[in-house]
Amino acid sequence: MEWSKIEDLRVPWITQTFPTIRNGHNTMIVGVVKETYPDERRVALVPGVLPYITKRNAEVMVEAGAGLSAGYTDAEYEEKGAKIVSDRAEIFAKADIVCMIRAYGANTENGAGDLDLYRKDQIIIGCSEPLTAQEPIDKIAATGVKLFALELIPRTTRGQAMDVLSSQATVAGYYCVALSQTVLPKMFPMMMTAAGTIKPAKAFVIGAGVAGLQCIASAKKAGAVVYAFDVRPEVKEQIESLGGKFVEIEVADARGEGGYARELTDEEKKKQQELMAEQIAESDVVITTAAVPGKKAPMLIPADVARRMHTGSVIIDMAAERGGNCELTKAGETIVENGVTIIGPTNIPSKLPYHASQMFAKNVQNLLDLLITKEGELELNMEDEIIVGTLECDGGEIIHPIAREIFGLAPLAQPEPVAEPVAEGSSA
Ligand code: NAI
Repeated sequence: MEWSKIEDLRVPWITQTFPTIRNGHNTMIVGVVKETYPDERRVALVPGVLPYITKRNAEVMVEAGAGLSAGYTDAEYEEKGAKIVSDRAEIFAKADIVCMIRAYGANTENGAGDLDLYRKDQIIIGCSEPLTAQEPIDKIAATGVKLFALELIPRTTRGQAMDVLSSQATVAGYYCVALSQTVLPKMFPMMMTAAGTIKPAKAFVIGAGVAGLQCIASAKKAGAVVYAFDVRPEVKEQIESLGGKFVEIEVADARGEGGYARELTDEEKKKQQELMAEQIAESDVVITTAAVPGKKAPMLIPADVARRMHTGSVIIDMAAERGGNCELTKAGETIVENGVTIIGPTNIPSKLPYHASQMFAKNVQNLLDLLITKEGELELNMEDEIIVGTLECDGGEIIHPIAREIFGLAPLAQPEPVAEPVAEGSSA
């Protein structure tokens, strides 16, 4: 199943409304729970977006202390009309929709604890590793909830406003440049001072997707000379528009499905490693962001190339959680090899939780706008490619066709289109 085919899954003329899943209350309730993943400091909804939800005649219920680690107090939520609830179970018992950063698939450490609290047909919105975490997703599906997996928001112009991968990658890109500045024993900008002229730092960004482009912009703003490379040749223009220099490396065009890169062959990878080695050796800071959806991150910096960088230089491997772009990377650790510091940060957006949550919350609120009518009713318009493209589980099973294909499950039969109502008096 190709990503671009998701549009074909839209079911014509079917709009499901669910006025009856409420549990003894009349008004739609949107719940926000505190994150349970270790060191997760973000929160799925911030006080600033609550008026957009309450204006749809919905109430918001927030678990006590949910926003504290991101910098949002219970009092701020209350000021915007939320009810603060200390019992997490009460939120799952009462809310029609529960929002979180990490549902079980993306929180295998502690997420299973919520499964007993989920209610059939309740909507769960959060990240859940929908294309890789098969066992947790199976368990979520078995509870009968409707899981909206935020990683699946289609990457279309309309989807952009709900795209947590992009918003969080922007935060992560900014953070990694700032991190590199604190580790590099040099300053970034060129300076002409009475004490002599300081040369600007050289930064090399590998992979120019959302995170990489933010790295380029941030490093450039900080004063570095920025070089960048991506296997998708069309990004050259974007790199240059941010003031970066596109490194011309002759690697096969690796444009893949849905705007993403395809995986390179072993031979192509080897050639890319060799061609990039010189650029890496000349750089003070290398930030790697290369990824291919559903695959381990490509290994682009072999150990000997990293060791050849000059003493004091820094590699920040933003792909550490997916296996790393540098052979020496250890996820969640900082190591020093031959004077070169290699950092493999994990859960990066959580390091800047205030703004990461603010952006995440705006994405979630935009999705809620699609799910809640102005009258405060829940409505799933199965003609909408964002809804069909993001709904991972429903009716007790995994329904997302791409997830089913990846998990080796047989495709589900498509519901029959409902005939368009014939106007009264028509002879048809
Ligand atoms: P990503 O996180 O999957 O990958 C990061 C980057 O790594 C990509 O640019 C990819 O081309 C690059 N890469 C892969 N293998 C590489 C290699 N061997 N060497 C160097 N670079 C390599 O990508 P991301 O940032 O999630 O987005 C990628 C695409 O999605 C872009 O086309 C972007 O324009 C599109 N997009 C569209 C959106 C929308 O329309 N709503 C929103 C966000 C992204």
